[in-house]
Amino acid sequence: MQALAPDLAEIEAARARLDGIARVTPLYSSETFSNRCSRPVWLKAENLQRTGSFKVRGAYNRIATLSDEQRQAGVVAASAGNHGQAVAWAAREAGTSATIFVPLDAPMTKVEAARAYGARVEFEGEGFDDCMDAAQEQAQRHGATFVHAFEDPVVIAGQGTIGLELAEQLADVGTVVVPVGGGGLAAGISLALRALKPDVRLVGVQASPELTIADGIAVKRPGELTMAILGETLDDLVRVSDDEITDALVLCLERTKLVVEGAGAAGLAALLAGRVGGDGPAAVVLSGGNIDPTLLISVMRHGLTRAGRYLVLSTLIPDKPGELTRLLDLVAGLRGNVVAVRHHREGMRMHVMQTEVELTLVTRDEAHCGEIVAALEERGYPVERVA
Ligand SMILES: Cc1ncc(COP(=O)(O)O)c(C=O)c1O
Repeated sequence: MQALAPDLAEIEAARARLDGIARVTPLYSSETFSNRCSRPVWLKAENLQRTGSFKVRGAYNRIATLSDEQRQAGVVAASAGNHGQAVAWAAREAGTSATIFVPLDAPMTKVEAARAYGARVEFEGEGFDDCMDAAQEQAQRHGATFVHAFEDPVVIAGQGTIGLELAEQLADVGTVVVPVGGGGLAAGISLALRALKPDVRLVGVQASPELTIADGIAVKRPGELTMAILGETLDDLVRVSDDEITDALVLCLERTKLVVEGAGAAGLAALLAGRVGGDGPAAVVLSGGNIDPTLLISVMRHGLTRAGRYLVLSTLIPDKPGELTRLLDLVAGLRGNVVAVRHHREGMRMHVMQTEVELTLVTRDEAHCGEIVAALEERGYPVERVA
């Protein structure tokens, strides 16, 4: 194993430091997911962790190991996401100051969260690399400690405490599924589990490289240390698409009432997509729940549409009194619940005596959508399905 990789004793020491600081998060069984995956499925709810993600484990472990002198000089980090919030929170808990460097266009909700935990926030450059440079420079200039999000054995040991909890919470765990961004989370958990349960199957999950809703695991390449560890500990490293993440996120919220962010749902997405393999009980780490409410609305809408729970269709009706009522009566008879009606009186494909009507309906499922479209067509309405 990598010389710098933390061993079990270091992960256990991290747990002692985190005692009373980080939550021991619950492990929930899920009948819905167990049925869908034909094996017992368990969810490790790190979305309920302090600050809304597992990141406080690593950040606090790092800050708790600083000397008094280092603590005086404070810590710096580069992140517009969960790591930034976690470092801000952990610094406050440990009685030191934190400066978080974020890109100029960082979401204000994240900036405000870090500030609310008492951190100073510095806006720097267009992207993450500019923030990294600025944070490291500031650390050097002021003798502050730079807290890396994943490429640090002490941070990895902190994340590894999830592995210790899993081993105790689920004695017969067969497979553990973990999202991978920089790789600190998966490195820590897999080191702990390889030591305690050598036979467990360990699967890492990355987001597909395109623009993704899983910002916690987007763009980032695993670090050198984390990659070396994962090369030895993981049985498999798989990818999931944005649509798969969306489906998992929506299902998780609907069935388990757990709010997870894109990266947090990646493991579940891989399991639901049948990409995990192995047998026996599978535990999935729901790594975070910090999703912007406006993004959550879009994701829910997209996910519900994909599941056939929303139907948006456009049709043409004669421009005569009573025609709209006739159409809506027909839809009501088919148990489609109308949530929006839009009228277009002008359009290239319309006759002068026609009106285009776009209906947004809440439906039961995909079969119900098909039933409504077929019934309208049967009555002579030309139907174009928009979503
Ligand atoms: C919610 C969430 N899940 C997973 C990850 C991936 O963690 P790591 O970078 O340690 O692989 C992150 C990283 O920011 C995250 O915020």
